[in-house]
Amino acid sequence: MLRVSNLVKYYKRTLAVDGVSFEVANGEIVGLLGPNGAGKTTTLRCITGIVQPTDGVIEIDGINLAEREEEAKRRLAFVPEVPTPYEMLTVLEHLRFIAMAYQTMTRFEERAEALLRRFELFDKRNDLVLSLSKGMKQKLAVACAFIHEASVILLDEPLIGIDPKGIRELKEMIGTARQESKSILISTHMLDTAERLCDRIIILRKGVVIAEGSLEELSRRAKMGEDATLEDVFLSLTEESDRVEGTDIS
Ligand SMILES: Nc1ncnc2c1ncn2[C@@H]1O[C@H](COP(=O)(O)OP(=O)(O)OP(=O)(O)O)[C@@H](O)[C@H]1O
Ligand SMILES: [Mg+2]
Repeated sequence: MLRVSNLVKYYKRTLAVDGVSFEVANGEIVGLLGPNGAGKTTTLRCITGIVQPTDGVIEIDGINLAEREEEAKRRLAFVPEVPTPYEMLTVLEHLRFIAMAYQTMTRFEERAEALLRRFELFDKRNDLVLSLSKGMKQKLAVACAFIHEASVILLDEPLIGIDPKGIRELKEMIGTARQESKSILISTHMLDTAERLCDRIIILRKGVVIAEGSLEELSRRAKMGEDATLEDVFLSLTEESDRVEGTDIS
């Protein structure tokens, strides 16, 4: 499971994340939503340890990231917003490199082939990553995240640039990960997908959690009816926050 407690991140004087706390239980898919600049990527990058938090505690399966970094990181998989793969490796070498780094080489060949076939990258297995298209690189990043047996999977806008078949495969893999009791946190602007895929939604705005819960709970919070879509609820709650802030200033 993943637990984030009072996470704060300043980039110099920019406050990107302002005291965010939440949990993702085992077997749960949580959607991290919010307008551009809300702090979604920063939150995810703090959880992965790529970015040093200014304050707060991050625990992966009860392991404190700041205290036992290597052990915590081994349990994490991350699909970044903009993948930066090692371009001079072949596709298969890249996957092997990741699996070796995470010391999960058991049945590697078989698992790698299944993943590459799923994402229609098998024919490209001996080509340099450099030669892949943008969407193919995105799929490779997803394959890398799923090649090691992480218990917490973080995905930052993973559906952008991936073709419809790839999206379907990824959604299936996320569903399977949930059945395997993994914790999945996914940031996205695709509200219809979030609505179908996620058990719970967290809405961030200007570095603060403004709402959290199932779609029904959020609909109630936004005083909207049962047939309200996540898009209706999202726009209502973020606009409400804008209005409240506007009132504060005046
Ligand atoms: N490396 C950085 N240096 C300085 N400021 C940054 C950096 N990365 C992000 N920020 C700032 O932190 C805030 C949160 O950015 P972040 O990338 O976390 O937002 P986001 O919710 O992921 O947005 P988007 O939906 O556009 O991906 C923004 O004000 C942004 O300008
Ligand atoms: Mg982002």
